[in-house]
Amino acid sequence: MSKIIPTGAVLGADITEIDLHSRDASDTVLAALHHHLVVRIRGADIDDLAFTRFASRFGQLEGSPAFSRSRPNYIPDAPLITVVSNVKENGVPIGEHGDGELNWHTDLGFMETPSGYTFLLARQVPPTGGDTRFCNMYNAYEQLDASTKQAIATLRIKHQKSHTAQGIPRPGFKDISTIDPRELPGPLHPIVRTHPHTGRQALYLGRRFGAYIPGLSLEDSERLLDGLWARCGGEGNTWAQKWQVGDMIIWDNRATMHRREQFVGAGLRRMHRLTTLGEKPT
Ligand code: OGA
Ligand code: MN
Repeated sequence: MSKIIPTGAVLGADITEIDLHSRDASDTVLAALHHHLVVRIRGADIDDLAFTRFASRFGQLEGSPAFSRSRPNYIPDAPLITVVSNVKENGVPIGEHGDGELNWHTDLGFMETPSGYTFLLARQVPPTGGDTRFCNMYNAYEQLDASTKQAIATLRIKHQKSHTAQGIPRPGFKDISTIDPRELPGPLHPIVRTHPHTGRQALYLGRRFGAYIPGLSLEDSERLLDGLWARCGGEGNTWAQKWQVGDMIIWDNRATMHRREQFVGAGLRRMHRLTTLGEKPT
């Protein structure tokens, strides 16, 4: 029988004694995910094909969009896996995101239909650095005062598409010269979304850089967004994953954001990543 052990923080739980190759493993994980928002399975003994099969039970796997990736293929035998790594072979990066910090974001929020769940499996980790921190977006919403809740109830936010979580233009958008949030491309999503499975309301923000609330002046939009972001990542609303090889972390992008600490000079890190297609946020 598998065991679910909450981290004791505002989100996150370990699942132990689970056989990832069994048919009902995904039911156990999904129930825990909806309750704890982030799930960790340590010592995941699983190859890339079985990893793909496991994740596919949570929804349609989507791969990274062509415009946001640096190469067409990462692992020929498991083409839906994205490699997130600072490893280079013959001077060429084998994956995405290098060793820098990744600011708070939710995955593929810059698409009309963003990611549902993300799976990150650690194949190689540096001795220090590169922690991934998560925040609880149900709490971030519930703890707003009544007037702020009312003010944002019908507002939408632009999840800009052209720049990464580090503010760097994506491969397909290198010729965009503006960084005016009003002008940058990207879909609009409701700031408050209702989780399709739990029915709970959560704040839904993407990347702070380039975000904008249409209908507000740029100044008012910036002030409101700064206030919301400060809450999300504020004290008591986060939990950090310190990676070990074999850790599989699964998160629900509808109810969390995440950020990654830089690990410049700390060593090599290689993560295998899968995501499921979610639904249009409402
Ligand atoms: C991602 C991501 C964080 C990390 O793959 O979507 O944000 O710790 N990764 O590498
Ligand atoms: Mn991410």
